[in-house]
This record gives sequence, structure tokens and C-alpha cells, in this order.
Amino acid sequence: MEKYSRYVRLPLSGISMVLEDLDKGGSKPVDPFLLQKMKKGIFKNTGVFAPTYIPSRLIGRDQEILNIGNIIGPALDGEHPHNAFVYGKTGVGKSVVTKYVLLNLAEQLEGIENNVKSVFINCRQINTPIKIIKKICNIIAPNVEIPPTGLATSEYYARLWKILNDFNGITIIVLDEVDKVENDSILYNLTRAEENLDLITGCLSVLCISNDLGYKARLDVRTLSSFGIREVIFSPYDANQLGDILEDRAKEGFNEKALGDEVIPLCAAFAAQEHGDARRAIELLECAGELAVGRKSDKVQEEDVRGAEIKIETDRFMETIRTLPTQQKAVLSAIVSSDARELDTDRIYIDYREVVKRLDLDTLSKIRVSILISELDMLGLIDARVMSRGRYGRVRLVRPVISKEKTLRVLEEDYRFNLMAE
Ligand SMILES: Nc1ncnc2c1ncn2[C@@H]1O[C@H](COP(=O)(O)OP(=O)(O)OP(=O)(O)O)[C@@H](O)[C@H]1O
Ligand SMILES: [Mg+2]
Repeated sequence: MEKYSRYVRLPLSGISMVLEDLDKGGSKPVDPFLLQKMKKGIFKNTGVFAPTYIPSRLIGRDQEILNIGNIIGPALDGEHPHNAFVYGKTGVGKSVVTKYVLLNLAEQLEGIENNVKSVFINCRQINTPIKIIKKICNIIAPNVEIPPTGLATSEYYARLWKILNDFNGITIIVLDEVDKVENDSILYNLTRAEENLDLITGCLSVLCISNDLGYKARLDVRTLSSFGIREVIFSPYDANQLGDILEDRAKEGFNEKALGDEVIPLCAAFAAQEHGDARRAIELLECAGELAVGRKSDKVQEEDVRGAEIKIETDRFMETIRTLPTQQKAVLSAIVSSDARELDTDRIYIDYREVVKRLDLDTLSKIRVSILISELDMLGLIDARVMSRGRYGRVRLVRPVISKEKTLRVLEEDYRFNLMAE
């Protein structure tokens, strides 16, 4: 530490001195931008790996494109588009295909007199009825000022209906990740606006996208009935389709010959195991490229893909740990802090009580802790198995999945756990 602090603490005017010192020693200072320069050797355009990027070709989704086109297609002829649900697991192309169809609609309407507007809303960020209303108002009537806060919800709705009635056109609203909306009354109000005479001129259609297959079942029956039976289901990609998606992305994102032969097939195979998730496949490919840069290599190899798989998996676990509630962190802390390879629930409970005592938290009952253990198991952070002890009944044995050091490091980001470590 001593060695480096000499340089770090130097005022700006002192930098030349440091460089001179290094020169005198005859050794060349390392180029701080070496990796950035190496990156250019591998990557042509990292923008194509961004979640917002829409590729020029969509692989294996012709039927889904046609189905969504069929739902919003009436708008092309000035007619009422339909309401519908779009379903499928994560990373199977629901968002990108829907955006592609909307862009296509805009292209086909270009130059033709029309009164169609579409609003694409990501409900992960815009997750309350008021925020959604404001977003719609903003797209349909950008010049009309809507107060960011301070109005009653009914007033926000009144402003929305006024804007839509004044627009007097066809409005298509896409609610992506709709299951993240805090209050689904907005769905009812939007889909029933015409029937309830809130919308007297023009029309409104709502397309909901979700990867939560149980979402629909949780909706109010009246809301559900406004959607009718229209839905588009996206199935997972197989390894060949993932391979084609990656080939296209690689052509745009990587320099020629930057990828070893095994790289794309391996990324595709890993992602196919993960329920055919294209996002995962693309993420793996980009991460493998970054690891190759980190090795100062000019070619991405199989080892980089394997490294990327481990890195992404670990990062995902770390993020899950970060967002755990405090009591669950306490249970996890009790599990990973032990040096035993496997722990039974009695032992975990004893250690857990120690942890909460030191953290000055409430002590939950053994049954509650047992439920928290099951949840940690479901999140994949621990591995729990039930073992029979003959006439003594059954015991649940638990072992951590991620290393003690890594888990504790993340837990200690939470100041309470950090104090405990001191
Ligand atoms: N058929 C395809 N062709 C090319 N790229 C695709 C295709 N399907 C998906 N992708 C790419 O995979 C990534 C994930 O796709 P998308 O965001 O549409 O998934 P999703 O189904 O909406 O997932 P989630 O439910 O998590 O929101 C994006 O980068 C997208 O560009
Ligand atoms: Mg999506």
C-alpha cells in the first residue's frame, strides 16, 4: 500500500515527476489505455449488445411477428386494433418482436396521412398508474404540461381522457413487463375507456407483455374479460436458433476472425440449457469478448465462454444476495459462516440466533426460519436436501452454493453486517 500511496497522493503538478522517475529506471510505464486499445482489436461495435438494440433480422419469430401484426394491423386501415396478451419466458424475444412490429407499423404509415400513435411503456421503470398516464399524455400531446405530482389520481385520468379525446385517433399502448405495475386498476380503466364513455372520440388498444405466466390468473375477471381471448405465446429458442441469433450479432459486434470456432456454439448450448434465453446467449458472448480483452488476447476462445458463464452466474447470485431482506441475510450469514460442509436446520437456528443477537434484530421462530431456508433454496443460494434418519424422522441438510468469502463480502456491503464483521 505504501508503495502506491506515494503516487496516488501526489498533486497534479507532480505527475511529470513520477513519469520521470519511472523513465530513469529504464522500465516503460504501462499504457493505462492498453485494454481499451485491445478492445478495438476484438469488438467492432459494442452497441449491438445493448438491451435496447433492435437487430435488422429476427430469427425464428415469423409466426409471432404475424400474430402481433394481426393484433395491431387494423390500425393500418384506420380501424380499431385489438387488446391482447403476449406471454413467454424471459429472453425469448417478446419485447424486441413487439418493438419491431411497432416500428414496422410506423414505417408503413410514413408519408400517409394517418392518426395512429403508439406508446411503448416499460413497466419495470414506469410502474404506477399515474406514471403510466403521464407517459401516455406525454407521447400523445408532448406540448401539454402535466404536473409531475400533486393531483388526485382521478384528475390524472381526467387529463388523459381529455388528451385522447382531443387526439381523436388510434392509440396503441404497449405495457411491457406489465406484472411490475403496482396497481392493475389501470388495465381495467384503459381497456374499458370506450365502454365507460371516458373515450368518446378515437380508440385505444392495449397490448400487455409478461414473462409471468401466472399473471393473467391473478387479474380481476372484469379486466380479463376486456382482453378477450387474444394472446401470443412465445416459445423458447433451441440451440440452433440461438446460434443464428449469435451469428448475426457477432457479425455486427465483433471484428472478423475475433471469435474462435467453438465460441458461438458453446454460448448457444449454455443458453439453450437455460430455457432458450437469447438475452443470456448475447450476454455470454459479450462477456466472453471482455474476458478475452482482459487476457490481452486478440481472439475469444472457448475458455472465455466458460469463464463468462461462471462470471455471469456469480454476478447473478451476488445481486440476489444484495436484494435479500435483512432477516434472510441473517439466515444466509448463519449458513455460510459455519465451517461444516453441511448443516441441519437445528444447527442453523442456533447460529442464526447468534447472528440476530449481534445485529440487534428480532429473533424469528424456528418455523419462520425454516421457511426462509426454503426460500433461499428456491433462489438457488443454498442447496437443501432431506435425509431420512430412520425412526428419528427426517432431517434437512443445507450447504451453501457460493463460497463463504464471496457471500460474506456481499453481505458486508450492508452496514449492519459490516459492523458484525468488525
Ligand atoms: N429472434 C431474435 N432474433 C434476434 N435477436 C433476438 C431475438 N429474440 C431475442 N433477441 C435478443 O435477445 C435479447 C432478449 O430479447 P427480449 O428483450 O425481446 O426478451 P423478452 O422476451 O422481452 O424477455 P423478458 O421477459 O425478460 O423481458 C434482446 O437483446 C433481443 O435483441
Ligand atoms: Mg422484455
